Amino acid sequence: MGPAPMKEHWEKVYASKRETDVSWFQEHAWLSLQLIREAGVPTDAAIIDVGAGASRFVDDCLREGYRNLTVLDVSAVALATARARLGERAAEVHWLEANVLDAALTAHAYAVWHDRAVFHFLTDPSDRHAYVQQVLRAVKPGGLVIVATFAEEGPTLCSGLPVVRYSPSALHAEFGAAFELLGHRREVHETPAGQEQAFVYCLCRTNPGALEASPED
Ligand SMILES: C[S@@+](CC[C@H](N)C(=O)[O-])C[C@H]1O[C@@H](n2cnc3c(N)ncnc32)[C@H](O)[C@@H]1O
Repeated sequence: MGPAPMKEHWEKVYASKRETDVSWFQEHAWLSLQLIREAGVPTDAAIIDVGAGASRFVDDCLREGYRNLTVLDVSAVALATARARLGERAAEVHWLEANVLDAALTAHAYAVWHDRAVFHFLTDPSDRHAYVQQVLRAVKPGGLVIVATFAEEGPTLCSGLPVVRYSPSALHAEFGAAFELLGHRREVHETPAGQEQAFVYCLCRTNPGALEASPED
């Protein structure tokens, strides 16, 4: 799917459904928060949630005391929904309406990169390559990368679009030697319609040596 139809798709989704009705809705992003807590991420660390949609991960992070938060999504409607929900607290968050594949992200700005259910839409290897280059560019050396996708036994479609499903090792392999796999978790997400979806979360640390060797730097 090219960039324009992709944006159109997501704008339509968020304009036609309530945030609580989309299949990926979570009241709280407990597992993501747990991984961040376990990694000992300090509250002044810069955290970016890419393809965040209207997710409540940002609300949870604010509640935990994190105060350097960036929310990126291609959908203006999704970002507006999240901002409206947060009210005055929205001013504490950096909002970026952009395609994660070509967003002008500041080099080495983020201590944590969080993606739930976005990378799995990248069915074209060149898009996955562009995504990994963006992570290498934007994340500080030694930063944390949390990527959650549908697991091998998960659905083949998400929001009506085809996805790639991953085992933990296959997901890590997409990122390569510049990412040290610290661990992985599995989660069964229950959609608002009551269906179960198997997710895998990989937690990696960027390897400073490999970052220095990156041709993008
Ligand atoms: C399945 S939703 C997941 C939303 C959120 N991460 C969550 O867990 O609730 C996928 C999100 O990724 C966004 N998205 C898809 N492709 C994107 C891209 N290339 N750049 C930025 N956002 C993208 C969509 O607008 C949508 O909000």
